[in-house]
Amino acid sequence: MSATDGPGAAPGAHTALGLPLERLEAADKVTGRAPYAYEHPLPDPLYLHPVTSTVARGRITAVDTSAADATPGVRLVLTHTGAERLADTGDREFAVLQSDRVSFYGQFVAAVVADTPETAREAAALVRVEYEAEPHDVVLTADHPRLYPPGDEDDPADHEQGDPDAELARAPVVVDRTYRTPMEHNNPMEPHTTVALWTGDGPGPGSGDGDLTLYDSTQGAHPVRETVAGVLGLDPARVRVVSPHVGGGFGSKGSAHAHDILAAMAARALPGRPVKFALTRQQMFSLVGHRTPTIQRVRLAAESDGRIRALVHDSVEHTSTVKEFAEGSAATSRMMYAALHRRTTQRLADLDVPIPFWMRAPGEAPGIYALESAMDELAQACGIDPVELRLRNEPSVDPRTGEPWSDRRLVECLREGAERFGWADRDPAPGTRREGRWRVGTGVAAAVYPHLYNPGSVAEIHYDGDRYTVDIGAADIGTGSRTALTQIAAQGLGLPVERVRLRLGDTDLPAATVAGGSSGTVSWGAAVLAAAAAFRDRHGTDPGPGARARAAAPEDAVAQGRAVASFGAHFVEARVDADTGEVRVPRMLGVFSVGRVVNPRTARSQLVGGMVMGLSMALHERSVLDPRTGHVVNADLAEYHVPVHADVGDVRAHWLEGEDPAAGPLGARGVGEIGIVGAAAAVANAVHHATGVRVRELPITLDRFV
Ligand code: MOS
Repeated sequence: MSATDGPGAAPGAHTALGLPLERLEAADKVTGRAPYAYEHPLPDPLYLHPVTSTVARGRITAVDTSAADATPGVRLVLTHTGAERLADTGDREFAVLQSDRVSFYGQFVAAVVADTPETAREAAALVRVEYEAEPHDVVLTADHPRLYPPGDEDDPADHEQGDPDAELARAPVVVDRTYRTPMEHNNPMEPHTTVALWTGDGPGPGSGDGDLTLYDSTQGAHPVRETVAGVLGLDPARVRVVSPHVGGGFGSKGSAHAHDILAAMAARALPGRPVKFALTRQQMFSLVGHRTPTIQRVRLAAESDGRIRALVHDSVEHTSTVKEFAEGSAATSRMMYAALHRRTTQRLADLDVPIPFWMRAPGEAPGIYALESAMDELAQACGIDPVELRLRNEPSVDPRTGEPWSDRRLVECLREGAERFGWADRDPAPGTRREGRWRVGTGVAAAVYPHLYNPGSVAEIHYDGDRYTVDIGAADIGTGSRTALTQIAAQGLGLPVERVRLRLGDTDLPAATVAGGSSGTVSWGAAVLAAAAAFRDRHGTDPGPGARARAAAPEDAVAQGRAVASFGAHFVEARVDADTGEVRVPRMLGVFSVGRVVNPRTARSQLVGGMVMGLSMALHERSVLDPRTGHVVNADLAEYHVPVHADVGDVRAHWLEGEDPAAGPLGARGVGEIGIVGAAAAVANAVHHATGVRVRELPITLDRFV
């Protein structure tokens, strides 16, 4: 490649942006040379196994550790009475073993550290914990007595423009439907894992002498350092977090969780010995976050030509009693369509459940499922093609603010998707096509994901006389961000990618923001481009060995006065067995508007992965919380269903060529989450078209059709 255009390109430069490079660490990963957190080779490791609560609410009245203490090979048993006192950071998720309170089923109540994982697990099973259980409440209902609006004056939960109630009373066509999505759990292939090592000659807890290293599976090494240092009362400079390779996260690894604190506490009590702690798949269902269940009422008031006059979206979700997390499912409905009269509300009930957290497109994924299902119902009520309905309601500006869109292009996504999918000859009548035993239908849904840019990342470039090393403490959670950032650095330096080596995943490298909100490549890339520009300014194109430069990402990289977001359109074919109700999805096609694509190979992988996760949301995923115990009963991959290869048909992701200068110096927006948004609605709409049955509660299982 020899073209010289593109953001940040040095004069006469190679163009690295847009190359479909394979992941630079791919060979290391498939040959076992890329160490994941648990695999870092450390001498003399110990192994931690936790004891978790078996009540959803109550008090610990007694802990008998005598049998565990007496087990050969046990080095430490931690309980709430013996554990060190942690700093109160105001975040109660991290108050690990600090009191006798139990706030959800599966909470840490003790831990055993032993010479082998088997010994730790066996001894943990010997710890006897007695509880005074209290009545618990884990069931979300639309009229739960404790519903409250989250947020505050600066960031209120509810928004209203115009007079939607008057329009709902007046309009000739009204859709008023309630959609439900279940509790869902992030299930990255690599479970949450940390290896904690306390070094230094201090006597352990509270001494203040020593340093902590965490080999952690995380979406953000620097944010984990800040959290862990705060909770343990350490100067962050004395905590190092190392995470060069991460086996997925989907949001749950976007923060430290209680297991990081527990491992660090154990390590501090056992200085010099690495303490390895990998959560089991079962433990991940109570300790690292989940998507909240939602109950969403959507009301659309329209003229008979389909033009929406009023859009009302009310979402009810749960949160935990430990700390508040708001999924925020109604928020993006404020920007999708040109309704003059709009209201979105959100209510939370704090239940005795594990702490919810980010799961791929938190808010947007369940929220747009509800809105885009209602749009399909409106199209049917008006007798209008569902693609055409969306075109008729396209807003020329952001309805929230009146600001112009920087690069919306949803209309193009819908038109190009319809063309590629072969939508034109679709018979609108639901439940009328059949091929053998299969009822066949097609569905469409739109997608949106906000553009998030996080300032706060720093990159440093060093030239050794041969290669350029770019350092930034960013994360590659399997998405290919290491490769994309290498391309961005090469672009900025005007070099072929082979000349550049990029290091990430370590707090010894310059600070970087979290891999969250699809913000990573764009936010870190801004720092890398700034460092490359600083390097060129200082050293020109012929630097001497030892040349270096360092720069921070700009505070304000996103244009003011513009509405910047990504959009997309999903098209799905669904087949439903006429006798059994089994749903198959042979075809999914998405067209996305995401600005510049840095690496088509890894970007496609993100979009296709998101679409498959949307298929999974539509047909498979559901965490079943037993109301009697507050326990997720299907806490493993045998019973918590995700698609296997046989469930996934022909999935195609396309994007509109172009760039969005308003989005930042790269002209790119994120690709990690937009793919899941809207995909479940497109599946549900296709299933309705196939069968005439409108299922308004996910997942769409075969029992819905009998
Ligand atoms: Mo994403 S759920 O913000 O990691």
